[in-house]
Amino acid sequence: MTAARPTSNQVSIGTLAAADIEAVRALAHEVWHKHYPSIITVEQIAYMLAQRYAPDVIAAELRRDDVWWHKATVAGRIIAFSACVLSERSDELKLDKLYVHNEAQRGGVGGKLIDNAAKLAARLGKTWLVLAVNKNNAQAIGAYEKHGFAICESVVKDIGEGFVMDDFIMARHVEKEAPSGQQAEPNGKPKARWWSLKRER
Ligand SMILES: CC(C)(COP(=O)(O)OP(=O)(O)OC[C@H]1O[C@@H](n2cnc3c(N)ncnc32)[C@H](O)[C@@H]1OP(=O)(O)O)[C@@H](O)C(=O)NCCC(=O)NCCS
Repeated sequence: MTAARPTSNQVSIGTLAAADIEAVRALAHEVWHKHYPSIITVEQIAYMLAQRYAPDVIAAELRRDDVWWHKATVAGRIIAFSACVLSERSDELKLDKLYVHNEAQRGGVGGKLIDNAAKLAARLGKTWLVLAVNKNNAQAIGAYEKHGFAICESVVKDIGEGFVMDDFIMARHVEKEAPSGQQAEPNGKPKARWWSLKRER
C-alpha cells in the first residue's frame, strides 16, 4: 500500500466476497505481524492466523448466516476489514475482527467499520455490540473507547496448544430510534457504572 492515509470520503464499506479472501488473508498477516509481536509471541500469532484466516475457514464463514464480514476499500483496494458474529447472548452482536492496514490507521477507517457493525446490530434488534481485546493492546482499547465502548469484563480463554487469550470484554450500547416525542435510552459512550447496572451476565 502507498504511504498516504486515505481521507474518509475515499473509503467505501462493502460486503466481503469469496474473491476477496486472499486479499484479506494477506492483509491480516501483514497487520498481525506488525502489530502483535509486542503483545503476544510470534508462535501465538502464527497459531491464531492459521486458526482464523485459513482460506477455507474464511470461505466457510462467508457461507454462514450468523457471520458478517465487511471490507473497507480505497479505489477497489482492501485496506481494512471487520467480521461480526452472533454471540451466545440474544441481546448482543460480537465484533469478532477489526483490522486496518498500518499505514491507514488513525484515519477514521476503524470508526467507520465500528459504526457499520453498530448499524448491523441495530438492524438485527440487538442492544449491545461487544468485543474481546487483548489487555495489552492499548492502541485498540483507545480506539474502542473513542468509539463508544467501555470495558465490562476481564477473561482468560484457553485457545489450545498452550496459548491463552488474556482479554477485556468491551461493549457499546446500540442506539435505537426513539419513538417520536420520547427520549431515547442513554447511548453514545456508556459509563462503566451505568453499564454494570444495566447488563448482568
Ligand atoms: C484498532 C484499530 C482497528 C482502530 O482503527 P483506526 O482506523 O486506526 O481507528 P480510528 O482512526 O477510527 O480511531 C483512532 C483512534 O484509534 C487509536 N489509535 C489508532 N491508531 C493508533 C496508534 N498508532 N497509536 C495510538 N492510538 C491509535 C487512538 O485512540 C485514535 O484516536 P486519536 O487519534 O484521537 O488518539 C486499528 O488501529 C488497528 O487495526 N490496529 C491494529 C490491530 C488491532 O489491534 N485490531 C483490533 C483487534 S481487537
